[in-house]
Amino acid sequence: MSRKILILPGDGIGPEITAEAVKILKACQQQGLDIELEDALVGGAGFDAEGDPLPKATLEKAKAADAILLGAVGGPKWDGLEDIQKRPEKGLLGLRKHLGLFANLRPALLYPQLAEASSLKPEVVAGLDIMILRELTGGIYFGQPRGIEERDGQRVGFNTYVYSEGEIERIGRAAFEMARKRGRKLCSVDKANVLEVTMLWREVMNRLAPEYPDVELSHMYVDNAAMQLVRAPKQFDVMVTGNMFGDILSDAAAMLTGSIGMLPSASLNERNQGMYEPCHGSAPDIAGQGVANPLATILSVAMMLRYSLDEPALAERIETAVGRVLDDNLRTADIAYPGTREVSTQEMGDAVLAAFNHA
Ligand code: IPM
Ligand code: MG
Repeated sequence: MSRKILILPGDGIGPEITAEAVKILKACQQQGLDIELEDALVGGAGFDAEGDPLPKATLEKAKAADAILLGAVGGPKWDGLEDIQKRPEKGLLGLRKHLGLFANLRPALLYPQLAEASSLKPEVVAGLDIMILRELTGGIYFGQPRGIEERDGQRVGFNTYVYSEGEIERIGRAAFEMARKRGRKLCSVDKANVLEVTMLWREVMNRLAPEYPDVELSHMYVDNAAMQLVRAPKQFDVMVTGNMFGDILSDAAAMLTGSIGMLPSASLNERNQGMYEPCHGSAPDIAGQGVANPLATILSVAMMLRYSLDEPALAERIETAVGRVLDDNLRTADIAYPGTREVSTQEMGDAVLAAFNHA
């Protein structure tokens, strides 16, 4: 049966980078992968066209899709919108919530060819291979009550950081399973010295641990984890944490690999339906210039093939093609350094396509 892939280019550099990733999806189609591609509007693009960052038609298509490829959402054009429900980011958060995409996989993998592009010393990052599991449908991003209101003559803003045992257990199990498939080390990140919600988080992780005796579980406070990521990142294999800490730590981990422009992600629900997107944002400062790095989006397609479409051979072929292009010294501006050849978004996409087709 043909599987449905929904393409959501979004805003900023989103359309440019998804166009390159779609070329690779079409090449997979030519190799016999039975997929149907559709697209729809999300984020600021959805707001401009329909007055809603997550138009109904988009949500319906998303629910019906086996997998979604999303570029990026947001930009200064919409930052002034008073109604937070209309902000482009709500399109993304709404998709995560409506589809129940609770497990966000953010791998920080250093391509050896990019060790020089990292802001850390090559020996600190050489061989780096971390997988961050970020809980994506709960925590302070979604907790109620939330808002801005007047109290005692001044405005106060408030959010609620809340996790149920069930939510913690679900992401915890996904993390233990992931560690099992990798280096069997799991570090759970919390702030259990201050926040009750993460005391419960730690308790639940400890409760699960005996079921996974082959995985070594450790705990770390989030401030220390941020420091350890830039001090000695290779100590980590799998990290698991809540929505907000995961947002922050995954950006830090991304930079270890040379550029956030290299990092793909997968967001999965219990049925392995998934949304795939680069970890970086819409980069409005470089949108429309043809200089954005499409590799994170192309690598997100590889993750889609692996996690939602069960096509590991095609996934590997894409990853190998990316490696080959880097071997050939091609670099978009974000990962270029003296001695490499700087190319445009489209040239990079075409080079990966050629390497994929010749594999
Ligand atoms: C991310 C982004 C989003 C988040 C924004 C755009 C809402 O930073 O996917 O990491 O905070 O989750
Ligand atoms: Mg983020």
